[in-house]
Amino acid sequence: MKIRIAALASGRGSNLQAVIDAIASGALDAEIVGVFSDKPDAAALQRVPAPLRWSRKPKTFASREAFDAALADAVAASRPDWIICVGYMRILGTAFVQRFQGRLLNIHPSLLPRHRGLHTHASALDAGDAEHGASVHFVIPELDAGAAIAQAAVPVLVGDTPDSLAARVLEVEHPLLVAVLQMAAAGRIAEQAGHARLDGQPLFTPLRLEFAPT
Ligand code: GRF
Repeated sequence: MKIRIAALASGRGSNLQAVIDAIASGALDAEIVGVFSDKPDAAALQRVPAPLRWSRKPKTFASREAFDAALADAVAASRPDWIICVGYMRILGTAFVQRFQGRLLNIHPSLLPRHRGLHTHASALDAGDAEHGASVHFVIPELDAGAAIAQAAVPVLVGDTPDSLAARVLEVEHPLLVAVLQMAAAGRIAEQAGHARLDGQPLFTPLRLEFAPT
């Protein structure tokens, strides 16, 4: 079944582009129904035709809740089956999350539950981790704490900087996100009672997917 995907993005949108490319190549049975941003100049917006773009500056709203409510109404109006946060850098309020819970995914650049929040690459280096990576997880009100569906790991190499590590992680983020969306399109994933489910079975540990280095 062709799934309708709404994307929330604040930045360059390389993950969004990976999804767009997978749709274009026929690898993913989906359509992008909107790209929503808190940054009107986000490069991610330019990756879709103008009618699919929505952006507002949070500063122009009376409150955080008012911005979130406008965003939620715009997202709902696009009638998405799934909503993906792809580099969306604003914390989503509880009302937003609850409205879309179970249909709201985030890609996070770490092997959760390690390194929640920002600066994950620096924190993996500081911790002396031998491996690092990315996770796709359901969003819950607590930041980066929802059930992870799948992860992909990369090695941490001698001499790595946060930037070199970020680049290595990004290479696996793209196929990881597409792989999870393929499962979503096939009706294979769901969230129930705080667990991600695959084919109806709870995933007590995230899937580990492997991608050949490019
Ligand atoms: C990615 O590393 C993603 O995991 C994180 O923000 C970055 C966004 O990159 N949440 P892009 O905008 O998709 O290129």
